[in-house]
Amino acid sequence: MLQNDLLLRTLRGETTERTPVWMMRQAGRYLPEYMVLREKYGFFERCQTPELACEITLQPVDIVGVDAAILFSDILVVPQAMGLEVQLIESKGPFLPDPVKTAKDLTRVRVPDVHETLGYVMDAIKLIKQELNGRVPLIGFAGAPWTLLCYMVQGKGSKTFDEAKAFCYTQPELAHQLLQMITDTTIAYLKAQVKAGADTVQIFDSWGGLLSPHDFETFSLKYIRQIVAAVKEEVPTIIFAKGAWHSLDSMAATGAHGLGIDWCIKPEMARQFAGNNVTLQGNFDPAKLLSPIPVIQKEVKDMLRAFGPGRHIANLGHGILPNVPVDHARAFVDAVKEFRHA
Ligand code: CP3
Repeated sequence: MLQNDLLLRTLRGETTERTPVWMMRQAGRYLPEYMVLREKYGFFERCQTPELACEITLQPVDIVGVDAAILFSDILVVPQAMGLEVQLIESKGPFLPDPVKTAKDLTRVRVPDVHETLGYVMDAIKLIKQELNGRVPLIGFAGAPWTLLCYMVQGKGSKTFDEAKAFCYTQPELAHQLLQMITDTTIAYLKAQVKAGADTVQIFDSWGGLLSPHDFETFSLKYIRQIVAAVKEEVPTIIFAKGAWHSLDSMAATGAHGLGIDWCIKPEMARQFAGNNVTLQGNFDPAKLLSPIPVIQKEVKDMLRAFGPGRHIANLGHGILPNVPVDHARAFVDAVKEFRHA
């Protein structure tokens, strides 16, 4: 039994006494307690050791007081499980030394048994659920197929992911094969997370907004739709496709319970596009957490009023930045928790 189920009730469309709040990438580098563990262990070591993943997952719950925990892991453990080498390079980000460029490269990629390759994630989830002891729900997650393809083809981060796009536009058959393999892996992976105890799942399509509305349907939403259909009867499901506000209507039509939005769209506009049968999540500018605390407090109120009561989860419009002071993160969370709609 959960003591605080505000997030789940809001996703199901129930009215709650106040708006729930969590922050994307809340388990990470702005927390000094995380930095201590970062000194001692490598990134994937932290992901693969259930005790460490558990400790890091719980940090923002204990330190900042969010209404949900999100599993400490990374979207790139899926390409790893599918057979690609993934490194995380200090101050540079993800690096895949042998990305997928040709049909021959694709023969190195497989749809794995997720229990064999990612069993450590399910072990972490079981441990986290035990340690949370019902305080708040646990969010499981995976990357959207398009965002994972971006890294699997480009081999590293990019502002444009032009090589990933060129792959899709010049070798569409190969691209669709790869996207379907990622989709099949992700469905099995999210179902396993739910079985292990995840209370809800979020699909991160961080680079969905790089595609035109038409290409977003072709290379991203087509696959997200399959994932949502496979898990939405089991747990509430959230899609966060950064920048893809043009497709809020078709994302709502997938039957997802929640849709994440970034700070570049007005809440009232997002509501108009998404309709009334879905919960919106967002959309505070992550850099705004660098403002003085009174400014954060005022802008949180403005945001909550703009979304109105019900069907809203307060969050940032993208991940928290590493240089945000912890007391600013806490001020954001507290301002949401103190607010009541008239
Ligand atoms: O939300 C959470 O706190 C849970 C853990 C989580 C991480 N990554 C831990 C992490 C989640 C949900 C992610 C998702 C993720 N990973 C996304 C989608 C969300 C987004 O921000 O767009 C993406 C695109 C990635 C890929 C990735 N992993 C990048 C680009 C980087 C390097 C740059 C960065 O943002 O840190 C990572 C590394 C990573 N993943 C770190 C953490 C805490 C930093 C590792 C470190 O240096 O300690």
